[in-house]
Order: sequence, then C-alpha cells, then structure tokens
Amino acid sequence: MESTDVQSDLKHVLKSKEEIQNRIAELAAEIDRDYEGRDLLIVGVLKGAVMVMADLARALHSHVTMDWMAVSSYGSGTQSSGVVRILKDLDTDLMGKDVLIVEDIIDSGLTLSWLKTNLESRGTASVEICTAFRKPAAAKVKIPVKYVGFDIPNEFVVGYGLDYAEKYRNLDFVGTLAPHVYE
Ligand code: XMP
Ligand code: MG
Repeated sequence: MESTDVQSDLKHVLKSKEEIQNRIAELAAEIDRDYEGRDLLIVGVLKGAVMVMADLARALHSHVTMDWMAVSSYGSGTQSSGVVRILKDLDTDLMGKDVLIVEDIIDSGLTLSWLKTNLESRGTASVEICTAFRKPAAAKVKIPVKYVGFDIPNEFVVGYGLDYAEKYRNLDFVGTLAPHVYE
C-alpha cells in the first residue's frame, strides 16, 4: 500500500511556504517597477510553472496578460537535450510585446535557451525570464535570467509545481525526496 503521507516521502525542506511567498512578493515588486507603463505578457511553461505563475500574477499590481506554453525536451532519461518540441503553443501574437517567461526551475538552461530564442523570433519587443528556482551548478549554457527566486544546490527537488512521476506538484514548499521513494 502506497503511503498517503506526503511529508514522509521528503528528506529535507529546502524552501518553506513562507520563504517562497516572501520571495515571490519581492520579485513581483521588481517586475512592477521594471515594466511600469508597459503592457506585459507573462508566459507560463506548463506544467511546472503553474504555482509560480498563479502566485506571481496575484502579487503583481500592474496589468498583465497571461498565456501558456507546453514544451517537451527530447533527451535520454532525465537529461535535457536542448532539442525542444512545442506541445502547446501560445494563443497570443507576440509582435511588439514585452514578454516574461515564467518557469519553475532552470537546470541545464537548454530548454529556456531554446524557448527564449523561439519567442524572440516572433517579433517581440523584449523577452526576459523569471524562474522560481535555478541550479547554477547544472548550467550547460549561459542564459541571462532577470528574476531568480532561489539558487539551489544541484539536487532533484519536488513541490511547488515540481514533480517526481507527476506527484508532489501540489506541495506549497520545495524539498528533496527521501531515497525510499525512488530506490
Ligand atoms: P533544463 O535542463 O533544460 O530543464 O534547464 C529544465 C526542466 O527540467 C526539469 N527539472 C526538474 N524537475 N525537479 C523537477 O521536478 C528538479 O529538481 C528538476 N530539475 C530540472 C523541469 O521540468 C524543468 O523545467
Ligand atoms: Mg518545467
């Protein structure tokens, strides 16, 4: 029988609900300042960015529009290859738009690097990136990220949109998994 207690699957809480919410509020204040007087389109990358999009959007005071993309990265196992396929494209025409891509986590950076270039090719005024988490030690490409929630160690994490086998996305904090879950 599978455990119903999610907490017992976790080894360590990396960022608590309060830490995440406080940091999102700080990022929202920065974004409000930076885009003052402009029309901003925030683009969430499904499915991981659902939580950060929802919290960030509600913490912003400016008018924004929201759209979503789903991409899949070809590659062996858990390694990102940088070859990306669009599973769901935006509904919005990007011509002349200020776009902010909102992501859950940047690992190698390959997915976002591809995505940024793809969106820029559609005639945007600007494309910037906001990510809740980033693993600097895993970076394979240099990619400018304007808004980073937290830099974290190069460990697999779950919660706040991030999953292991589609589970744990609904946690309001981020933690590392206990070995018994994946061994
Ligand atoms: P790259 O390597 O292209 O890939 O930056 C980023 C994507 O990889 C997934 N990812 C994770 N998912 N816990 C997760 O649940 C992690 O620790 C983790 N690291 C990378 C995620 O889908 C992200 O968008
Ligand atoms: Mg993702």
